[in-house]
Amino acid sequence: MLVFDGSLSAGAIISCNMLGAKVVSPVKGLITFFADLKTVANAMERVGSVWNSPPERGGLGPQKIITGNFVFKNLTVKLGENYALQDLNGEFDGRQKIAIVGPSGAGKTTLLRVLQGLVRPTNGIVEVDGNNLASLDLNFYRHQVCLIDNQPTFFTGTIEENIRRARPSISSAEFEEILEVSGLSGISRNLPEGLSTQLDVSASALSQSHKLIVAMARGLATSSNLILLDETVNSLDKYSQLHFKNNIDKIVSGKTLILATNDLRFLSEFDYILVMNEGRIESQGKHSQLLKESALYKELFEGEQELSGKIFNL
Ligand SMILES: Nc1ncnc2c1ncn2[C@@H]1O[C@H](COP(=O)(O)OP(=O)(O)O)[C@@H](O)[C@H]1O
Ligand SMILES: [Mg+2]
Repeated sequence: MLVFDGSLSAGAIISCNMLGAKVVSPVKGLITFFADLKTVANAMERVGSVWNSPPERGGLGPQKIITGNFVFKNLTVKLGENYALQDLNGEFDGRQKIAIVGPSGAGKTTLLRVLQGLVRPTNGIVEVDGNNLASLDLNFYRHQVCLIDNQPTFFTGTIEENIRRARPSISSAEFEEILEVSGLSGISRNLPEGLSTQLDVSASALSQSHKLIVAMARGLATSSNLILLDETVNSLDKYSQLHFKNNIDKIVSGKTLILATNDLRFLSEFDYILVMNEGRIESQGKHSQLLKESALYKELFEGEQELSGKIFNL
């Protein structure tokens, strides 16, 4: 308006705009600088904590082939300021299907990470087949453990290459068996490129359920003695959940399978169940026994049934 009135020239308004930009841009830079500074400070804190933590004794200690008989003795894990696990005492035999159940935040994932040898107990010990896990050669131990969680990562290549890379010496009969048992054969028939489908690191071309099935097939190809599944089954689609349920004994076949889950639908299939709450083992036993003895287990199970009932009554 001022320009049209003639009280301000067009040149003056352009200069004004340019000067304004010159003032605003350093202020913006300063704000971004402080935000970046905070990110760098956080990153330095993380690097510092990793740097200052005691080095791992990978490659030292006895190399034991495990069956997966675990005993926890006063197992406590403190993460930051939180006690993720508190004074856990319990045991179960290997070569069977174990479930760890409990509400979110109960400590299930942390316990799996301890069993993987990734998180060290703050107090207490974990014994595997009568040996203190902390005293074993952890590199050798971890080669026998396969964890499948909801964010599997892959290397760039086809589905088939990802699976074969887990065990290059795999025979064609074993490969076919793994495709069947994992459910991948059914899925790959419906993919335009089949097993030749290209994957990136997060397999973004696949649905979440299909990603997990490929991860499962790869996990079976590693011939691990201990398979850890973290909420994996409840993230599968219905068809794959049924396939898992019907094939669970073939998946286990002589291995130890531990499923951490807040989903109690398949638990009657499991041999032994640990019920966790707020970082503690609330009770442990078989499904039918827990239904009678554990108030929390009964509550979780009834909640699951109510949910299914409501869905079917829609
Ligand atoms: N890296 C971490 N730092 C601090 N606290 C953590 C960390 N990871 C998990 N926790 C805490 O430990 C507890 C158990 O977590 P988690 O093992 O993930 O439980 P769940 O798998 O049963 O949901 C929670 O209270 C959670 O907030
Ligand atoms: Mg969890």
